[in-house]
Amino acid sequence: MIAAEPAVRASAALRDELAAARRRGLTVGLVPTMGALHAGHERLIERSAAENGLTVVSIFVNPTQFGDPGDLDAYPRCEERDIAVATAAGAGLCFVPDVSDIYPSGHSTRVCVRGPLTETLEGRQRGPSHFDGVCTVLSILFALTGPDVAYFGAKDAQQLQVVRRMVGDLSLPLRIESVETVRDAEGLALSSRNERLAPADRQASLSLSRALAKAGRAILAGDAGDAREVSKLGMQALHEGGSEPEYFAAVDPESFEQETVPGPKTLLLCAARVGDVRLIDNMTASFAAETGYGFDRDREEI
Ligand code: PAJ
Repeated sequence: MIAAEPAVRASAALRDELAAARRRGLTVGLVPTMGALHAGHERLIERSAAENGLTVVSIFVNPTQFGDPGDLDAYPRCEERDIAVATAAGAGLCFVPDVSDIYPSGHSTRVCVRGPLTETLEGRQRGPSHFDGVCTVLSILFALTGPDVAYFGAKDAQQLQVVRRMVGDLSLPLRIESVETVRDAEGLALSSRNERLAPADRQASLSLSRALAKAGRAILAGDAGDAREVSKLGMQALHEGGSEPEYFAAVDPESFEQETVPGPKTLLLCAARVGDVRLIDNMTASFAAETGYGFDRDREEI
């Protein structure tokens, strides 16, 4: 790691810092974020810092990936704290651009991945332009930073797969690495949105990891049926756990198409509302079955 200016705002300043790092022969790891950093983001930054000479953390609440302007306005912003957290976790440089730096006036280009990968699940719930916004901002960040490797969380499994697809299809010259989902002790996947959960919603927020565990166990026990039956089981578990289910799916981890015969490698994904907070989570069936979330020591359902 090198000691650099803690934060740069303009892409020209970013280029200068990166050119200096390159001259010193350092590899560059990029961790793209929208800020409101938590221990999940920290894990990505630590991993990059362990594997690269310079870690760049971008902090940018990307307007083009939000369908709902209210959701964009409500997104937590705490820049000073984020820069301190990122630096403590090993970032050599934080890139904190303004919207006009990423999307100057006249900006007209979108990068779109097509097919089931972007049209189902999050693509369907959040609208088709969600992943277009993600791919567009990441293309710009990759171009500005020129990283050797970029780190993404398995927490956003569909986003990770879309990014891999885009990088492969466009032969972009970087590696994509994934980092396992960081959870709290009871299984809730860490998310910037968790800050908005009311204390009374705590129990319902655990319904996601518990529904995944229940479906994973059923699949491994061989009595889950096909993807539609797994979905039904998961939706019911979410509902019974006190959340308002949006989807529960059992898909092939590469194509994101429904699995005809779900097995240990099947990826289980779900989304649900708890109060006015939208939560998502996912696990492979074998991992979900092992976790024990929602089951006591005697393996009885709580
Ligand atoms: P954001 O939600 O800030 O997430 C930034 C990165 O942190 C993503 O790769 C996400 O998967 C990862 N992450 C979030 N929660 C995690 C957890 N509990 N464990 C491990 N990793 C976790 O995802 C975005 O921002 C944006 O879409 C972005 C890629 C920055 C493009 O704007």
